[in-house]
Amino acid sequence: MDLMHQIITKAKDKRKRIILSEGTEERTLHAADRAIADKIANIILLGNKAEIKALATKHNLRNVLQAEIIDPIRNEKKDTYAFLLAELRKNKGITIAEAQKLVENPLYLGCLMIKNGDADGEIAGAKNTTSDVLRPALQVIKTIPGINVVSGAFLMLTKNKEYGTDGGLVFADCAVTPNPNAKELAEIAISTATTAQTLLGIEPIIALLSFSTKGSASHELVDKVTEAVRIAKSMSPELTIDGELQVDAALVPFIGKRKAPGSPVAGKANVLVFPNLECGNIAYKLVQRLANAQAIGPILQGMAAPVNDLSRGCSIEDIYNMIAICANQVIKR
Ligand code: ACO
Repeated sequence: MDLMHQIITKAKDKRKRIILSEGTEERTLHAADRAIADKIANIILLGNKAEIKALATKHNLRNVLQAEIIDPIRNEKKDTYAFLLAELRKNKGITIAEAQKLVENPLYLGCLMIKNGDADGEIAGAKNTTSDVLRPALQVIKTIPGINVVSGAFLMLTKNKEYGTDGGLVFADCAVTPNPNAKELAEIAISTATTAQTLLGIEPIIALLSFSTKGSASHELVDKVTEAVRIAKSMSPELTIDGELQVDAALVPFIGKRKAPGSPVAGKANVLVFPNLECGNIAYKLVQRLANAQAIGPILQGMAAPVNDLSRGCSIEDIYNMIAICANQVIKR
């Protein structure tokens, strides 16, 4: 059974409540229709009910008519959500009137529904930018205890079975935090370990990457990575984690042995943690394009409840897969 099939099967077992905030977006509606037909989640669509029903009828998406539809402009809990938002953001000086306006934005509404216990996870980003999807989630849902930074991972399924675990690896951060400090990098490593366990079902072997291996170069950028390794080990001593490692030392057994003898990670890594967002974002796209790997994500991690961002170029299949991934993240919690 391939990886996505396993993730979908697990989602079907528990049927979590997943919000699709862009309820009038056509690819989203097609994915919702398939997800409902396959029973992988209880889908909640946000948007104007008449518009969603008209689109469903136009595209012959009969299953969509079974979804719960919440209209951001007119819904019976609108005041509850506005008061909740005002309470959560009172330190930021937000007024009730401002909160009442913000809850009409489906991206805020989705997060507030999760915070209020009315849904389990949310997916958006087929038509909104990453920062528009992330900001309400960061403000309303916030991070899990012990983690202060949200990051984005990709499952990279490569054809080179000799690397990672049968060619499967997790890369992070590829999506969120532009320039993490050492503590944030350590937290990203720990969150990525959880993602690897949740979605790939593997024992994570985590490499914190650099342009240096075990002191081969001296630079403040290398110091940041070695400090992150120290912090991550003290936060989660049970994890198999090492660095700083160059990516060849992390992945290739004979190079790992030569450059980092005795390392529990070198030559065996299945989780690659990049020193900043530029490296992570460029690396996953290079591997996806040049090595023809399947890149599944970004999967947001570190958030107190799962909210996942899509690429605006996403396919129906990508959205469908992300519904199953989001459901798996809920189940893991
Ligand atoms: N983790 C946790 N909390 C965060 C993070 C983070 N990484 N970043 C910001 N926050 C918090 C802030 O502390 C703030 O909290 P508060 O309002 O309660 O005080 C809140 O989130 C909002 O912060 P802002 O300063 O308003 O947001 P900011 O302008 O920093 O934007 C964002 C945050 C949206 C994540 C920004 O860093 C960003 O745009 N990152 C890059 C996203 C991107 O473009 N990725 C590449 C494309 S994705 C792809 O290719 C797969």
